[in-house]
Amino acid sequence: MRTIKNILIKIHPKVYEPAEDSELLLDNLVNVKNKIVLDVGTGTGIQAINAIKRGAKKVVGIDINPYAIKTAKENALLNKLKLNEDIFFFESDLFKNMGEIKNKLNINRFDVILFNAPYLPTSKEEKLEKYLNYAFDGGIDGRKVLDRFIDEVGDYLKENGIIQIVQSSLTGEEKTLKLLKKHGFRAKKTASMKFPYEEVQIILAKHI
Ligand SMILES: C[S@@+](CC[C@H](N)C(=O)[O-])C[C@H]1O[C@@H](n2cnc3c(N)ncnc32)[C@H](O)[C@@H]1O
Repeated sequence: MRTIKNILIKIHPKVYEPAEDSELLLDNLVNVKNKIVLDVGTGTGIQAINAIKRGAKKVVGIDINPYAIKTAKENALLNKLKLNEDIFFFESDLFKNMGEIKNKLNINRFDVILFNAPYLPTSKEEKLEKYLNYAFDGGIDGRKVLDRFIDEVGDYLKENGIIQIVQSSLTGEEKTLKLLKKHGFRAKKTASMKFPYEEVQIILAKHI
């Protein structure tokens, strides 16, 4: 178990262990007070837990990895949050199960949607074990999951809603900004962290 920015986190060998990219989003989370938040690719649940601790009204975390959902639920309880009252976790490949989830929770659209995406350009030889691979593998150009997310996210966001994406300069900052613009968002890079081979970036987009 680790404590990251006052959040207790139990890790699991098949789930992404929060790293600098996770912390960059924790530190730069927009104001979520009284907001309904969706955390896509929740992993250990760290962003969802942070959002509730920062005053969100309701938070839903989703992940394609069933081990992530199990771990995120355990972490919500570990942090003494009200699991299944104001913080919820569900397995879903991006928005595939959102219809069912929205009906269950009586939510229409979200005020804020977060996604610390699997953003690394990954060749066949670089792939990891199935479940952990989901955390890193952005396909050959790093954009496989992110582009799908940007294509679909507008259907789940309220008018004037906000998206925060974590990605790498290797994924292409301009490509992300351009695609968001094409889908009717006003988008910009709001934070970054430099590493020897890449810059990890927070992209903030507003639905207009
Ligand atoms: C870089 S990790 C981020 C985990 C956590 N949000 C954090 O900030 O530490 C990316 C997460 O996205 C999930 N993921 C990858 N592809 C997905 C998909 N198609 N649908 C939902 N989740 C996905 C992975 O399983 C992984 O948990």
